Amino acid sequence: MMWNEDREGYYRLSIFCLEAADLIINPAATFKEKPDPTGLVFGTVFSDNMLFIEWSLASGWEKPHIKPLENLSVHPAISAFHYAVEPRGLTEAKLLHMLWLNEYTLFEGMKAYRGADGKIRLFRPRLNMDRMLRSAMRATLPGFDKEELLECIRKLVEVEKEWVPYSTSASLYIRPTLIGTEPSLGVKKPSKALLYVILSPVGPYFSTGSFNPISLWADPKYVRAWKGGTGDCKLGGNYGSSIYAQREAMELGCQQVLWLYGEDHQITEVGTMNLFLHWQNEDGEEELATPPLDGIILPGVTRQSILDLAHKWGEFKVSERYITMSDLIAALKDRRVKEMFGAGTACVVCPISTILYQGETLHIPTMDNGPKIATRFLKELTDIQYGREDSEWTVEVS
Ligand SMILES: Cc1ncc(COP(=O)(O)O)c(C=O)c1O
Repeated sequence: MMWNEDREGYYRLSIFCLEAADLIINPAATFKEKPDPTGLVFGTVFSDNMLFIEWSLASGWEKPHIKPLENLSVHPAISAFHYAVEPRGLTEAKLLHMLWLNEYTLFEGMKAYRGADGKIRLFRPRLNMDRMLRSAMRATLPGFDKEELLECIRKLVEVEKEWVPYSTSASLYIRPTLIGTEPSLGVKKPSKALLYVILSPVGPYFSTGSFNPISLWADPKYVRAWKGGTGDCKLGGNYGSSIYAQREAMELGCQQVLWLYGEDHQITEVGTMNLFLHWQNEDGEEELATPPLDGIILPGVTRQSILDLAHKWGEFKVSERYITMSDLIAALKDRRVKEMFGAGTACVVCPISTILYQGETLHIPTMDNGPKIATRFLKELTDIQYGREDSEWTVEVS
């Protein structure tokens, strides 16, 4: 077979090879004790098995394996351990970010939920597969058939079904990961890669509980993402670099960073969540607003689901639009802000109570207003996830 190394051929070739029908299942013979779902700390406990699929430019995707979770053995030169992108001509904030930026590692985050009916469901997993493939393209990592990978993940969760907590406030977090594993220091697209999926039972994301309001710190000196960058992909470097700002937020007594962008201090995302504002806008209309997908916003599955639900309700204007800190401050002065909340797989919906900005703590009246809308989204989404409401958004595992 001729190997076409151009961009299109590179992906087309690899897409042919990832086949769920080839899955080899050799699960662990001994089982770890399952933790109490009430005391789980996010991402610290892992199930017995993992999905493991190797890729090389020479042979495409190898057969997928479900096998006991184990340490990886890799060469210290692999692409995933090296290389920031070229930092010339950048601001200090971007430079700091990019020093961490590693383009050869990407991941996804999704969950399996055990319903009251005993069935295990995934929530809109095809949106995760779409995003993972887009991240792979951006990172010059190999493409794959999204349905085949989803089927392998479904199988893994089926094998590990006892790890899906018997609880409606906990779930099994699914972490697909794709890394470049070429043992070479050359700055180029890797000719070897590893896709693996690990599972971790999780409870509420925030230690304060699942629906307690959070305090934010907003300072334009750190940027999470920028136009032409990788903020719309789940590349590992986007996250490693955010920890520095997160530490400063906590030192200032805040729980999360509100990421700003540009001279006009546009509000973009909160921590690792998309952001929503429910308010009366400048024209006096009731509106649910979230920043548009202009390349610096991660296209969240929860974000999309909230937009879809709000459009379906048809009760107020729903907008993907820019919101600046001065828009927000003016609306707070005029008492036009109803609720502000973050949205993501980890927490579903997370109300915001304060924003520390330019030395002043802005009170956001989310909790004073119910929070009516945030609670309604939380209920509708969790009803679907835990099978209390039928929806074509879920995929049954078993
Ligand atoms: C930067 C960022 N924004 C938003 C989200 C929310 O996305 P999702 O709803 O798909 O979890 C995440 C979570 O992965 C994230 O990392």
